[in-house]
Amino acid sequence: MKQIVILGSTGSIGTQTLDVIAHAPADFSVLALAAYGRNLELLCEQIETFHPAYVCLYQEDALKSLKDMLGARDFSWEKITFLAGMDGLCVLASLPEADLVVTSLVGMIGILPTIKAIEAGNNIALANKETLACAGSYIMKLAADHHVKILPVDSEHGAIFQCLEGVRREDVDAVWLTASGGPFRGYSKEMLEQVTLEQALKHPNWSMGAKITIDSATLMNKGIEMIEAKYLYDLRPEQVIPIVHPQSLVHSMVELKDGAVIAQLGPVDMRLPIQVMLYYPERGNALMQKVDFRTIGSLTFEPIDEEVFPSIAMARYSMQREGLFPACFNAANEIAVEKFRKGQIRFTDIYRLVEKALSALDAEGATRKDYEIEEIIHMPERIRHMIGE
Ligand SMILES: NC(=O)c1ccc[n+]([C@@H]2O[C@H](COP(=O)([O-])OP(=O)(O)OC[C@H]3O[C@@H](n4cnc5c(N)ncnc54)[C@H](OP(=O)(O)O)[C@@H]3O)[C@@H](O)[C@H]2O)c1
Repeated sequence: MKQIVILGSTGSIGTQTLDVIAHAPADFSVLALAAYGRNLELLCEQIETFHPAYVCLYQEDALKSLKDMLGARDFSWEKITFLAGMDGLCVLASLPEADLVVTSLVGMIGILPTIKAIEAGNNIALANKETLACAGSYIMKLAADHHVKILPVDSEHGAIFQCLEGVRREDVDAVWLTASGGPFRGYSKEMLEQVTLEQALKHPNWSMGAKITIDSATLMNKGIEMIEAKYLYDLRPEQVIPIVHPQSLVHSMVELKDGAVIAQLGPVDMRLPIQVMLYYPERGNALMQKVDFRTIGSLTFEPIDEEVFPSIAMARYSMQREGLFPACFNAANEIAVEKFRKGQIRFTDIYRLVEKALSALDAEGATRKDYEIEEIIHMPERIRHMIGE
């Protein structure tokens, strides 16, 4: 029985992780749950169903309401240890009883708890891609030093992980990172200028949290994933090739030096990559309809239009520059997405803001490849200052 900590239990990945766990009560138990505190009703239901020993809310003020709500349901919460804030998240991440920490927080807030989990020697099922996009070299070295496994929950990186099993790293030439293309595949630059928040929040294939859905529409998500792949699998920027595959059935591919290509395919359902990492190195039973290849028709591939979606070129540039550039790329995107969601900027201004931040960092002469983790964590403030926000 594996004891699981879930940071971000009320989100899209968090709830799907709990669904996988609910189907395998003999294999997993929930040790701890954490959320921001926006969805207390759902968190109450999760506590009642999974009986965690620890619960953390980032928003400390919401703890009293949570306890009141549990009391109103006649649920005796006295045995639960309640924690709050970043300190609470870090305590949960480093619990010695944990067998696996699922990091499904959204954004750079996931960096510090991930570091604490690694320092405590806890293996990580990592959904929070922003952590690796910002501090990939630091996190991967720390994990190696502490003999901790970083198991990627992202479907593309999980696919590459599975394709690489039994493959010698020196035989790998490239990874092909598949992308659905998002809701604006085939759009011109002019059409993209007119895109609304409502349109950007509708993904054709996946149902996900708001931030990643917008990132999928701008293809910033694919840029973040390119950087994530570089650090997870120690690849050079040119070895990571994004490609549009609208059916989303091929989750990614690994190309070997002799030209052979290994692909991982499966249902379009995030519970599968989550389940693979929860069970790793074993396998669980299927939770969903398996793919029937007699009925799927064709699988198609096309290049990404990098003129229309500058996210790819900016991600490649950040990967090449290394050091603080990937964190700048990611943090500027987080700032821009927040502004877009508040209606303060247009969709295409997301690219402009990220480009402005990268240029400003370049103008500051940031050429070092190494960095202190505090520089990464404080990157959002630095960007706001650099671009005059
Ligand atoms: N969704 C997918 O299919 C998918 C696929 C691959 C990778 N990912 C990655 O997985 C991560 C999570 O994505 P998501 O779509 O699940 O996001 P989401 O639906 O927005 O959920 C985010 C979760 O994190 C919690 N949270 C946010 N800020 C927090 C804080 N400061 N302290 C504690 N908890 C906090 C939220 O709590 P509240 O409910 O209280 O706000 C919620 O439980 C992202 O990095 C995303 O890129 C997602």
